[in-house]
Amino acid sequence: MTQPTQVKRAAILGAGTIGASWAAWFLSRGMEVQVWDPRPEAEDYVRRYVADAWPAMSRLGMVEGASPDAWRFHATPEDAVADVDFVQENAPERLPAKRELFGRIDPVLRADAILASSTSGLIMTDMQAGFSSAARFAVGHPFNPPHLIPLVEVVAGRETAPETVAWCLEFYKHIGKKPIHIRKEAAGHLANRLQAALWREAVSAVVTGLASVEDVDTAISAGPGLRWAAMGPHMTFHLGGGEGGIEHMLAQFKPVFESWWATMSTPELSDANCRQIIDGVKAEAKGRSLTELAAERDAVLLPLLELVGRRG
Ligand SMILES: NC(=O)c1ccc[n+]([C@@H]2O[C@H](COP(=O)([O-])OP(=O)(O)OC[C@H]3O[C@@H](n4cnc5c(N)ncnc54)[C@H](O)[C@@H]3O)[C@@H](O)[C@H]2O)c1
Repeated sequence: MTQPTQVKRAAILGAGTIGASWAAWFLSRGMEVQVWDPRPEAEDYVRRYVADAWPAMSRLGMVEGASPDAWRFHATPEDAVADVDFVQENAPERLPAKRELFGRIDPVLRADAILASSTSGLIMTDMQAGFSSAARFAVGHPFNPPHLIPLVEVVAGRETAPETVAWCLEFYKHIGKKPIHIRKEAAGHLANRLQAALWREAVSAVVTGLASVEDVDTAISAGPGLRWAAMGPHMTFHLGGGEGGIEHMLAQFKPVFESWWATMSTPELSDANCRQIIDGVKAEAKGRSLTELAAERDAVLLPLLELVGRRG
């Protein structure tokens, strides 16, 4: 097995939103990248994506000595994985598509190559079953866009070797990501479950008339969301407990949180409720295009990433 700190060549299988962004990040780290996607137009998409991503990665101090051109588009997945140390798989989020792809590359993968799947919520045990390389398959789930957001969730399937998990954790850390080990398989892994829990309450707030879409968004972006870039919910509450820390916080707020949880329920994503969310988001956007909104987000995100990066 190539040392996780010595990876020279990686394959990207599926080069849409996530695959193209991973390609940009791997290139910024000085790796050679072999890309495959069934859409021939994906080659142009990757070229444009890397060109657009390069200035932001450069601002984060990530591209020194690296070339945005050190990649090739391949006609088949079998060609793309030839002699790579590592494969990042980003095919559509459908089990049959992932398994069909794994079936094609399993016979030709180098015997020591590691594969990580970007899947947002499929279970690796289901994806890897029956393949001879299964012990070297794990989930390596990023957040969009992977060339900016540090988090990667590493999850083993039943057949994944412990060494594969350790390898992925070290590899992602070495290339500047913030990997965490999710210790059990769960639909949505961890971070998406946390997002889903918050969004469930956000949708409830809108459809029960507690607040508008815009005010729900402000409640997070001008409130706890600011603190969450610095530290997570548990550490935030450790500080919320004053001098008594988390012990005092729990002693004081345990019955309060339990009584709030008892009032929470799952909203239905009916057509009418979806319409209310869509109309609310359009009103909040006030005519700004998706490109303009993404630029507004990135104007905050990049300095924040610089700050978080400096903190280590
Ligand atoms: N979009 C996100 O926010 C996000 C975040 C983290 C992880 N993911 C995961 O990344 C993976 C890819 O998602 P995406 O958002 O990039 O999707 P996407 O639709 O943007 O891209 C998928 C790409 O896969 C290609 N493709 C189609 N059939 C294929 C096949 N059989 N084998 C390989 N590639 C094929 C498509 O041509 C397309 O370019 C999914 O597993 C998804 O769950 C997505």
